[in-house]
Amino acid sequence: MRSGSRCRVGVWLQQCSARASEVPLARICWAEHTTKGMTVNTPALCFRSKKILAPMVRVGTLPMRLLALDFGADIVYCEELIDIKMVQCKRVVNEVLETVDFVAPNERVVFRTCVREKDCVVFQMGSADAERALAVAKLVENDVAGIDVNMGCPKEYSTKGGMGAALLSDPDKIECILSTLVKGICKPVTCKIRILPSLEDTISLVKRIEKTGVAAIAVHGRKKEERPQHPVHCEVIKAISEAVSVPVIANGGSHDFIKEYTDIEAFQQAAGASSVMIARAAMWNPSIFRREGLCSLKEVMQEYIKYAVRYDNHYTNTKYCLCQMLREQLETTEGKKLHAAQSTQEICEVFEMGSFYEETTAILEAKASLKAKTQDEDEQMEDTDVIKMAVRFDKREYPPQITPKMYLLEWCRKAKHPQPVYETVQRPLDKLFCSVVTVAEQKYRSTLWDKSKKLAEQAAAIVCLRTLGLPEGKLNEGENHLINKRKRENEEFLNNKEHEDDHLVEASHKRAHFTEGASDSSSSEVPR
Ligand SMILES: Cc1cc2nc3c(=O)[nH]c(=O)nc-3n(C[C@H](O)[C@H](O)[C@H](O)COP(=O)(O)O)c2cc1C
Repeated sequence: MRSGSRCRVGVWLQQCSARASEVPLARICWAEHTTKGMTVNTPALCFRSKKILAPMVRVGTLPMRLLALDFGADIVYCEELIDIKMVQCKRVVNEVLETVDFVAPNERVVFRTCVREKDCVVFQMGSADAERALAVAKLVENDVAGIDVNMGCPKEYSTKGGMGAALLSDPDKIECILSTLVKGICKPVTCKIRILPSLEDTISLVKRIEKTGVAAIAVHGRKKEERPQHPVHCEVIKAISEAVSVPVIANGGSHDFIKEYTDIEAFQQAAGASSVMIARAAMWNPSIFRREGLCSLKEVMQEYIKYAVRYDNHYTNTKYCLCQMLREQLETTEGKKLHAAQSTQEICEVFEMGSFYEETTAILEAKASLKAKTQDEDEQMEDTDVIKMAVRFDKREYPPQITPKMYLLEWCRKAKHPQPVYETVQRPLDKLFCSVVTVAEQKYRSTLWDKSKKLAEQAAAIVCLRTLGLPEGKLNEGENHLINKRKRENEEFLNNKEHEDDHLVEASHKRAHFTEGASDSSSSEVPR
């Protein structure tokens, strides 16, 4: 790796972090909130004269939102995230990436955000339940600038759960969800709707929404059965804007209106709206928000990739967004290579950014191992009731199918102790595992973290066996009683082979005692 270019990447990352702590003051209005009798000033989003990145599933993840902000967007909406999925998430501060992650039970990051966008990101959710919507809003409230409810998605996956455009025919539910949110959180609440078949009904719905106390209403100027290529009904958005005093955000202009920056204002005027929200035009080229005009697609894609690598965006998502930008160029050599890419590294190579990838990931990995080391040292101080040793399980040191866990289980049986209980955790920083085994009410663990749960459990078992001075089954340990026991069982089995089937079944049951299951369950060595 060239040290000069490593330096450049280092500088870029530093600039990234510096920008991350800058709060774009121009975009912030200050609002007073009363909390427990005290008046506090918190920045509140203002929705007048704003250029906004629309919520877009798969497109509106962190790299796209940051890029849109770089190019001049004032507010960015995240992709719609479903309340049921979000309520299961836990909030994790990712010290390596300098992000806040909302992580699902399967360890997938559902929503990732960072300080840079804290005062201009709106979290959009899909919900058909006021209490669940409130639970999600409270979970993310402190990390975002506002909360939006999607009431315009016509797709079946959304409407069949009563969410998205299905809400448009249930104004009572709309009112209940929005007023619960407005009363329950301190951040501004917005919603995004489509227009109804009649103007009269649309206006009466919008007036009802206004009364809930929302900070703005985004109107996609199409009916729910209309497709993106149908003309947008600017005159309906205009009539809505005239009928209410809450800011109306005009949306739906990418196909007919917005080809370059100056068109954004033209669309706003045609719709008589307070602000404009852009989806497809920004997905095709996020530099649509740039006052000085569009940047070349190559430049935009490279900037997007930088954020994708920097924020460890999942490669399938990165690839999806880049494909949307390439559009009709997907059949070119570059497009075909992008289509074939199976990792972030491969995507970077397509765009001649292989060294950027290597240098950035090297810097992030070094940061991760430093943090992990510090975390380890902190933990050493904390869990004083756990007996610890720095050991790892190396399969090559053991006879085939013999493991320390088996030895420990066997010993517990003989000593009439309950079977060992393994509790394993995965460290989000580097995704390594550590297992604690409890035997006779004493806990044991290795101080070294492992690549898999199985290895971590074996290491914990070794610590326990060594502490108790018990054999652990290693090849060089001399007399290996488990192997001898297995040999004896095999001999018995062969001797009995000619006897009845019942014997055979019993012998195979015995062997199951010492066979480690393929399952990663900690109870895999428990006889069935
Ligand atoms: C790829 C894609 C994903 C979208 N996902 C969402 C979404 O998550 N939530 C939402 O309210 N609308 C979503 N939309 C609709 C857009 O926000 C917007 O209403 C629509 O595309 C019209 O705006 P435009 O003419 O600027 O594209 C999506 C649109 C696209 C193209």
